[in-house]
Amino acid sequence: MALTYDEVYAQSVTDPEGFWGKAAGDVHWFQKWDRVLDRSRAPFDRWFAGGRTNSCYNALDLHVERGRGGQTALIHDSPLTGSTRSFTFLELRDLVARFAGALVAEGVEKGDRVIIYMPMVPEAVMAMLACARIGAIHSVVFGGFAAPELAKRITDAAPKLIVSASCGLEPGRTVSYKPLLDAAIELSPQKPHRCIILQRPPVEASMVAGRDRDWNDVMKAASPVDCVPLLATDPLYILYTSGTTGHPKGVVRDNGGHLVALKWSMKNIYGMDPGEVYWTASDIGWVVGHSYIVYAPLFHGCTTILYEGKPVGTPDPGAFWRVISQYGARVLFTSPTAFRAIKRDDPNGEQIKRYDLGSLRYLFLAGERCDPDTLHWAETKLGIPVIDHWWQTETGWPIGANCVGLGAFPVRPGSCGKSVPGYDVRSLDTAGNPVPDGEIGNIAIKLPLPPGCLTTMWKNDAEYKRWYLETYPGYYKTSDAGFRDADGYLWIMSRTDDIINVAGHRLSTGEMEEVLAAHPDVAECAVVGVADAIKGEIPLGLVVLKANVTRAHATIVEELIMAVRERIGPVASFKIATVVKRLPKTRSGKIVRGTIKKIADGSAYSVPPTIDDPVTLDEIAASLEVLGYPRDGVSAADRSKVD
Ligand code: COA
Ligand code: AMP
Repeated sequence: MALTYDEVYAQSVTDPEGFWGKAAGDVHWFQKWDRVLDRSRAPFDRWFAGGRTNSCYNALDLHVERGRGGQTALIHDSPLTGSTRSFTFLELRDLVARFAGALVAEGVEKGDRVIIYMPMVPEAVMAMLACARIGAIHSVVFGGFAAPELAKRITDAAPKLIVSASCGLEPGRTVSYKPLLDAAIELSPQKPHRCIILQRPPVEASMVAGRDRDWNDVMKAASPVDCVPLLATDPLYILYTSGTTGHPKGVVRDNGGHLVALKWSMKNIYGMDPGEVYWTASDIGWVVGHSYIVYAPLFHGCTTILYEGKPVGTPDPGAFWRVISQYGARVLFTSPTAFRAIKRDDPNGEQIKRYDLGSLRYLFLAGERCDPDTLHWAETKLGIPVIDHWWQTETGWPIGANCVGLGAFPVRPGSCGKSVPGYDVRSLDTAGNPVPDGEIGNIAIKLPLPPGCLTTMWKNDAEYKRWYLETYPGYYKTSDAGFRDADGYLWIMSRTDDIINVAGHRLSTGEMEEVLAAHPDVAECAVVGVADAIKGEIPLGLVVLKANVTRAHATIVEELIMAVRERIGPVASFKIATVVKRLPKTRSGKIVRGTIKKIADGSAYSVPPTIDDPVTLDEIAASLEVLGYPRDGVSAADRSKVD
């Protein structure tokens, strides 16, 4: 008889080695591990030490060898170009082997870094898997970042080679990637030895002689290469994510632990069987895309969909339903933002009725807490379980979920479910003591982390330890606040740092403040995340100008908005800023960002006892009112559009 969630969970935390050792039997190894969990260099724990495997082999070759060669592995559906392309496991294996050969021909070796700065095209997936095939470490950079952000990642990762494309497509505009790439390389002291560029209509990128080569040319010239057996502990990729400063954190993921955890998750969390179609509507530039567009579905022998479009406007709010019915997707995994956008444009779900969604078993949501209204709407309109689940770039796979493969339990709207097997989740007070069930605390995970989670930060073991492990000795700090209820459900309510979630994208307000502070007219500034009906949160900037500045405020605000767009990227969605006389601070000089946010959100707030001058709070409230954030809690024009 199948074990229940409670039994599986108990096994995973009482005997992690036994539990994950068994799960590892479900993937291919060239050589078995010496130890399931090696804690000899704690806190740098290592899973499957001594084992040899290859993530690309497990994603592609293995399935071809086991008779899945003719099954579709990857579907590229692009309403933005009006095209679809699909690749069987055999076809994808051959293309990846060839591109891996091209990388080798360019001198890329095991352990070298390759940056992939590409739109949602199959070649981006091929580039990732080709790196995995030869043991090169890929680092995918989201296309919505501006050149300086890309430059930071080039500087940190020091890639030997960069793979990019001439353009990406956003509704109504073309994003030329190549000038951004050229500018980023110019800005970075680290210069790649080679760039491989996919020329993609409608933009023809100009090539730098001696450095840039055309994707098609290198593919024509290349010979395919086989998978290299890698240590389980060798890095598979670096993925940069927002930290509290302008320096992104380079999350390092290994091969073996990642492979075992992701493979296990497909059946046990998502209830998927090999051969079925799995769809994550996200971007490969984010962790969700790495794990559940590329690696996990392929490890599990599923067909995965790479969707180059939006939930609405490409062409209508029926886009998701069209894709599900066209390909027979079993699971849709996306962000609550996407659903809020669909709900806004099609409140009665008329578009849903146009399609046969009989294949769809579950909707999984992540990236931000799903508000109960959106969850109810999706449940009612789709008539299937809607499951909010919680995770982070650092963990690489869900920490809290309703593991439907282990027998789903009733959904509690607003909760992300219970701890996923492998994660011992606790809620602690600031001194690191456990808080009682039901009380808000700092959410931490007792070490060891399960396989698949970050092993360190790239070239920065010290920062990994300092940031994640030292605050609560023996625990990994999630920087999320929330609580566990008496039945074990987790409620993740907010971040404890200055990270905000904008449309499911993780952004640092500290980084935006650095950009604003660099403006010559700005004396000081604060950026807070304020509630938004569609994107969950959006950043709002308050700036105090230097004493002698006489330029028009509107001009300065426009420059600030443009500066964030040019330095961080359009994805920051930084569109609201205002000039204020002064910022509210505590007597020790700390800006009370939390109180500013409450004022903007129309939430009840009290004057912090340590505030230096309560009058400034009134001034801020007045300025926010002018921006459309009234004091009485009625939302700004945009916020009231969704019921
Ligand atoms: N390349 C270049 N620019 C990009 C980009 C990319 N890959 N992705 C987004 N952008 C741009 C957008 O064009 C937009 O630019 P604009 O300011 O000129 O309009 C800006 O970045 C902000 O994008 P976004 O936050 O996505 O807002 P939007 O208004 O374009 O779309 C939604 C709103 C709700 C449709 C969209 O946010 C969405 O699909 N969200 C789901 C997010 C998601 O999948 N998250 C992953 C977690 S599971
Ligand atoms: P990212 O690293 O981009 O995946 O963002 C991780 C952060 O997003 C987490 O630390 C949470 O703050 C937030 N998050 C993601 N999923 C959820 C969820 N289901 N519920 C609450 N917060 C979430």
